[in-house]
Amino acid sequence: MNIKKIIAEMTLEEKASFVSGATAWTTDDLTASHGVPPVFMCDGPHGLRKQDLSLNRQADIYKSIDAVCFPTACATAASFDRQLLADMGTALGKECQAEDVAVILGPAVNIKRSPLCGRNFEYISEDPYVAGELAASLIGGIQSQNVGTSIKHFAANNYETERMYASSEADERTLREIYFPAFETAVKKQQPWTVMCSYNRINGVYVSENEWLLNQVLREEWGFQGLVMSDWGAVADRVKGIIAGLDLEMPESNHTNDALIADAVRNGSLPMQKLDLAVKHILEIIAKYNQHRQTETFDREADHEKSVRTAENCIVLLKNDDRVLPLKHEEKILFVGGFAENPRFQGGGSSHINAHKIVSAMEASAGYGQITYAEGFAYDSDTYDEAKMQEAVKKAASADKIVVFAGLPDSYESEGFDRIHMDLPQVQNDLISQLTETGKPVIVILHNGSPVMMPWVSAVQGIVEAYLCGEGVGEAVLNVIYGTVNPSGKLAETFPLHLEDTPCYLNLNVREHKLHYAEGVFVGYRYYDTKKMDVLFPFGYGLSYTTFAYGNPRVKVPSGEEFAAGQTAEINVKDGADVYVDITNTGDTAGKEIVQLYVADHTGETQRPVHELKGFEKVALQPGETKTVKFHLDQRSFAYFCERIHDWYAPNGSYTIEIAQSSRTINCRIDVQLTGSEQIPPILDADVQIGELLQNDKLRDAAQEMLHEKILQFAGVEKEADMKPLDRAMIQYMPLRTLRSFIGCTNEEVQEIVERLKEIIQS
Ligand code: BGC
Repeated sequence: MNIKKIIAEMTLEEKASFVSGATAWTTDDLTASHGVPPVFMCDGPHGLRKQDLSLNRQADIYKSIDAVCFPTACATAASFDRQLLADMGTALGKECQAEDVAVILGPAVNIKRSPLCGRNFEYISEDPYVAGELAASLIGGIQSQNVGTSIKHFAANNYETERMYASSEADERTLREIYFPAFETAVKKQQPWTVMCSYNRINGVYVSENEWLLNQVLREEWGFQGLVMSDWGAVADRVKGIIAGLDLEMPESNHTNDALIADAVRNGSLPMQKLDLAVKHILEIIAKYNQHRQTETFDREADHEKSVRTAENCIVLLKNDDRVLPLKHEEKILFVGGFAENPRFQGGGSSHINAHKIVSAMEASAGYGQITYAEGFAYDSDTYDEAKMQEAVKKAASADKIVVFAGLPDSYESEGFDRIHMDLPQVQNDLISQLTETGKPVIVILHNGSPVMMPWVSAVQGIVEAYLCGEGVGEAVLNVIYGTVNPSGKLAETFPLHLEDTPCYLNLNVREHKLHYAEGVFVGYRYYDTKKMDVLFPFGYGLSYTTFAYGNPRVKVPSGEEFAAGQTAEINVKDGADVYVDITNTGDTAGKEIVQLYVADHTGETQRPVHELKGFEKVALQPGETKTVKFHLDQRSFAYFCERIHDWYAPNGSYTIEIAQSSRTINCRIDVQLTGSEQIPPILDADVQIGELLQNDKLRDAAQEMLHEKILQFAGVEKEADMKPLDRAMIQYMPLRTLRSFIGCTNEEVQEIVERLKEIIQS
């Protein structure tokens, strides 16, 4: 396809029409005029939601092809397993090729700012590093099959209430440190073919018309090469959008914007080059897809098995008192709860897959020994049925252990609205409590897309978080609870003790169509850990049927020098460092451990979370086996986003590297002295504070020389040693200009000092 030639030959009207979809799911068909076929895109991202084109509307969400539903993002996140995500992506990519889908609409990487967001099940984590790494792996897998992805929803779309209109009001540091990096990592590592812009506004500007975001940050700074499309219906002013870098409007908006675009070109308000660029980006995706068509078959049975294997690696064991799990085949087990027959395995909305084969725990339990069942409560409502509850309690009497399949009904969480509380249906909580009163061990299996309250947490012996684990959840759960599979997931989000504890609890009301991100960078564990708050289950937490020991942590710098725990590692920020730790399986079962690395900044340069995740690795170990896990740290691992310089900045000074099992269980610590960062000079004018000058390595000597006498004069003493602590404290925060007021300096003298300091900085 000769893209240049095609653009040269297209009429203005053709171009104006080409930059919107032709239908809800396809690009314009220019086969007859220019030899450009349409391409198909579909949701995503944990399976194909490919709709019949005659079902042209969003409302037909539940009518799509028979497809395999893999675990949703809340579950796959808990795997912390890059390879698992890459393999799942490869399977999805092959399915796309088989179904002639050019772009799968995902992954969705919005940060879990509040547990209430209705779409959290589609999102990966509260932590941007995890979200970026896992999204990049999934994208890499899908795109390895010559199919595109659309990483979404860019950006700061973390709540469903007013999602199409409200403005996310956040400062630059918060956006850059929390809400952007997942996109940034994926773009830099894997170049997703497309990015989907979100519905909302950021600081008042619709993302679909946000030149700063789409052109400057995404393309210029991060080097994004692909196509930016709108979320479905996210376009407000189409012409402004094209200028800002929004290439494709989806869906087609009845082509009502075509005339506006053509008129804007004619009257000069939309430069033709901007329109051509949008056309070019769309043509490039079409060409890329068509040049590499693969013959694949959609093997639903094989992919169902992959979905089960994926789910097995995602499930999180949250509690296992007295080794109540794994269950033994000779034990008499009572399954309770409608989810045992009808598991909840995906969420509602645009990601809803028409699942090929749903295997419930009851179906999967055939051949597992002595399992009986009592429904107890319905899977799809919160209504009480006393008879069903009593039946469950009665049957419990003759069981050795009780496994309750609990969770959130579909109506509790979905795209399009947010939860208003974090509770399970009351009927479930009540029945679980009644069952614990029988004295029999109770194990709760949870099917939910985001954290729930667990009023019975200390009364039950076992808790298994299955999340929304795809159509094979029943098989995966059975394999985990009977020990065929050793659970290896950990939480990619904190489970708080109370909704009121959540960092944005007081900032979650949309007021005047604005959502204030006032908690800043303190999201998830960054908040709870900094505030030393008790939580229900911390970020990064999950148990195994085996145990792991951490030992021999060390830092190695490029010169070859090694530092062990107890020493202070000297790291030059320009060189970075590698960190190693030995992990041993100390139990008698093969298992996998997710090893986490956090960095804690003690420089005091700016207020930061007590620690931030900068690395994770999942390692598989046979009993008694030891493996060395390696992490790499670079400038960014130590840096915060400095708004003054609009860049990442890692202050020199002291840090600790923490190697941890969860954000709250830190097994090894190594202290670090970081060097090599150039200090950021203060803004040099008459407002600069004296303390800022004295703290700057380059300016300190000159400032002292020029200000020494003046400082003594202010303090009314002859020698520095005679200065009172109060005066020292006051002086730090005195702007230079106040020398006029307090010791009678002239404007000229103040200006002279400023000029001299500027010369020093520039030299
Ligand atoms: C959702 C997107 C989805 C699109 C197409 C929108 O409502 O926000 O995630 O890809 O619809 O179905």
